[in-house]
Amino acid sequence: MRSYTLIAPAKINLYLEIIGDRPDGYHSLAMVLQSIDLADHINVQVNGTDDIRIRCDHPQVPKDKTNLAYRVAELIVAEFPNAFAQYGGVDITIDKRIPVAAGLAGGSTNAAAVLVGMNLLWNLGLTQTELEELGATLGSDVPFCIAGGTAIATGRGEQLSPLLGLDNIYMVLGKYRSLEVSTPWAYKTYRQQYVRSYIKDAESLAARAGAVNSGAMVKAIQKKDALLIAQELHNDLERVVLPTYPQVLQLREVLASEKGVLAAMMSGSGPSVFALCESQQQAEQVMLQVREKIPNPDLELFVTRMITHGIQIASSV
Ligand code: C5P
Repeated sequence: MRSYTLIAPAKINLYLEIIGDRPDGYHSLAMVLQSIDLADHINVQVNGTDDIRIRCDHPQVPKDKTNLAYRVAELIVAEFPNAFAQYGGVDITIDKRIPVAAGLAGGSTNAAAVLVGMNLLWNLGLTQTELEELGATLGSDVPFCIAGGTAIATGRGEQLSPLLGLDNIYMVLGKYRSLEVSTPWAYKTYRQQYVRSYIKDAESLAARAGAVNSGAMVKAIQKKDALLIAQELHNDLERVVLPTYPQVLQLREVLASEKGVLAAMMSGSGPSVFALCESQQQAEQVMLQVREKIPNPDLELFVTRMITHGIQIASSV
């Protein structure tokens, strides 16, 4: 096989609690992550050169080393020099459908797809755990994006406990194209404002992270009850992002007030906002109504749903 095309789904956070600081400068988190069927398509193929090349016609996607997909390929080249000598460089083509810098793990899921794709392309035989460990060195969300579905994520987001996968819960997702929120900025600002509430000692940090397992959100997920899940949505980063970005706050309020919406919340560090709905039909109705209320063409709206998987192989040639 010389080419693989992979489907790389986005994620939303159903729950994001910032627990404390970590010695590595990151935050200790307790999250529940959920894959959705909004996905990029990634092709990886042997290119007969010694180079890694990124192709993507989306203007906001970097084609250089700042792209996580590039960095993951570079990491694999460094880790597996014999395979590189045998197969040479790769072309990575990204068909971008997930909004960029949106809090939807768009870059991380592309990196996860390159990991899965190069593992196949170069016959590396790496297990899912090994792929997750490699991915974690590049970004906290990359490990989740590999297997996807529904999972508790602790540590800095890379320690995963899979949950019973949710599917067919529909939502409307909105993102202003021109609005980008820097994740480092969101966490840094949160630290500046709320450091006094951080749990300080390691034992209490671990206990708080562990408590999510028995928390109300996980119980709601186990029951597959969309209304209960909607009631338990939580994202600490809203506390810093919503006051700074009034457009995001307004979008969240408009979505939450629509008939048929169970609850609305920002995903990750934003600025995308999702609104869980009673049904697909309701979600489509809500999207039309929001479009009427906010006619700004900069606002992208999608109807999407929860899915039980991460990276999937679409085709191989
Ligand atoms: O891991 P990733 O590169 O996705 O994280 C982006 C940034 O978000 C980090 O550089 C850090 O500033 C912040 N972050 C954090 N704690 C985490 C995850 C991310 O402070 N657990």
